[in-house]
Amino acid sequence: MSNILLAKRKKILFVLGLFFLFLTTSFIFLEEVAYIWIKALHTIAVIAWMAGMLYLPRIFVYHAEVQTGSDTSETFKVMEHKLLHIIMNPAMAATWVLGSWMAWQQDWYNSGWFIAKLVLVLLMTIAHCYLYISVCTFADDKNKKTNYYWRVFNEVPTVLVIGIIILVIVKPF
Ligand code: HEM
Repeated sequence: MSNILLAKRKKILFVLGLFFLFLTTSFIFLEEVAYIWIKALHTIAVIAWMAGMLYLPRIFVYHAEVQTGSDTSETFKVMEHKLLHIIMNPAMAATWVLGSWMAWQQDWYNSGWFIAKLVLVLLMTIAHCYLYISVCTFADDKNKKTNYYWRVFNEVPTVLVIGIIILVIVKPF
């Protein structure tokens, strides 16, 4: 990766880090307002993360069908790398930081719905790590999985999202 791109990424991460530091510290004094704003930012981060979790396996479906070394395969590698590093990784980090802040602020850690939600979110995070490893496998032209395998895998985040949303909005227990 070029030095310019690396410097740009470092600058973006630095500004994002500053923003979250400002957001968390300054809002500690306005708890209720902070909670609603943080819940909105949490939901925005969730949407970005889930967009990547549902789209990346779909790219793998088509990538598994094309010739290794072809122009299409090289294009898919760039799409996968950018989706993972520019959208999914920062969105997952923001989802965890903002969600954990809300759980700490309202002491949700003792609630049944939150513990069940955390189990499903941990499974989602494991799926994210598996997709991360798979991006590297495709980048090295070492993917052995079929397009059908990736079609089935694509359903994992879908099922988890359904469970997570029901738990956090309905809070059944
Ligand atoms: C990564 C770890 C996560 C933690 C620690 C976390 C924690 C929380 C907490 C404490 C709330 C506030 C609940 C309330 O005030 O009613 C919340 C809200 C929410 N979370 Fe998460 N969450 C996480 C990940 C996710 C994921 C992966 C999704 C979806 C796929 C999600 C979807 C939502 C939604 C939609 C709300 C708003 C619920 C409402 O308005 O009542 N969260 N989250």
